[in-house]
Amino acid sequence: MRLSGKTAVITGGTRGLGRVIAESYVAEGCRVLLGGRDIDAVADLVDKYPDQLASRHLDVRDPDSVDRLLQAAVDRFDGLDIVVANAGMSAPGRVAGLSLEDWAATFETNVTGTFLTVRAALKYLPAHGGGSVITMSSAMATRVAPGASAYCASKAAIEMLTRVAAVESAAQGITVNCLAPGIIDEGMGRALASNAVVWAKYSQKLASGRPGTADEVAAAAVFLVGNDSRYINGHVMEVNGGLDW
Ligand SMILES: NC(=O)c1ccc[n+]([C@@H]2O[C@H](COP(=O)([O-])OP(=O)(O)OC[C@H]3O[C@@H](n4cnc5c(N)ncnc54)[C@H](OP(=O)(O)O)[C@@H]3O)[C@@H](O)[C@H]2O)c1
Repeated sequence: MRLSGKTAVITGGTRGLGRVIAESYVAEGCRVLLGGRDIDAVADLVDKYPDQLASRHLDVRDPDSVDRLLQAAVDRFDGLDIVVANAGMSAPGRVAGLSLEDWAATFETNVTGTFLTVRAALKYLPAHGGGSVITMSSAMATRVAPGASAYCASKAAIEMLTRVAAVESAAQGITVNCLAPGIIDEGMGRALASNAVVWAKYSQKLASGRPGTADEVAAAAVFLVGNDSRYINGHVMEVNGGLDW
């Protein structure tokens, strides 16, 4: 019970990695408020953990929506200790053919959405004694992936936003760290892991020889908000099984 008595907000918790991280936090004794647009998708989780888990509609592109989510966590669970800025999307496209709409949509969700979530966290957490923030990058933030230009660029921006926010808020008892998963057999990574052509290419670069599991990402997400990581700040933690790329 490493997160006993704590309250967490997780954006993009309606499916994929966010949903699995939420269940891991609940298993560690944490109360969790999940945010996303399709909250019907987590009705089963709310039924399963009626005292520990709730959901609220969220659009991370809307500052008021983000603020409402954090306020809802305080109202429902009487505090806030952890914010996981997990919501993200990917619009494929090589630079030469990428539409401005796809570029802007990727940055609006991934970069602006993460900025708004971290900004709200830095407003709410000091009033509740400090806490922990996690942002969500990707192995693609620091590696060239042709056809994923907007996604790669957006994740690189998230890593630097994390480092700056960490230094700016450490004095308030807040850590801001980042997870950078590799190819995970869950969420948007599942399509890569199950595509024979893509997998043939990437598997050669993977020292572990297999995609990661959502539980392996969630284990890192538990560590980065627990007491054992209290002196880790501004760190980008790769969870990729060893990537020779
Ligand atoms: N899976 C991987 O292999 C992998 C690898 C590296 C990094 N990541 C990162 O991990 C994070 C989670 O990815 P995933 O694989 O779990 O993807 P996913 O299954 O597609 O889930 C994305 C989540 O983000 C939410 N979301 C998207 N746009 C949103 C918006 N405007 N407002 C609120 N929520 C929004 C979605 O909820 P709604 O649609 O219900 O709003 C959903 O819950 C992302 O940041 C991704 O870049 C994943």
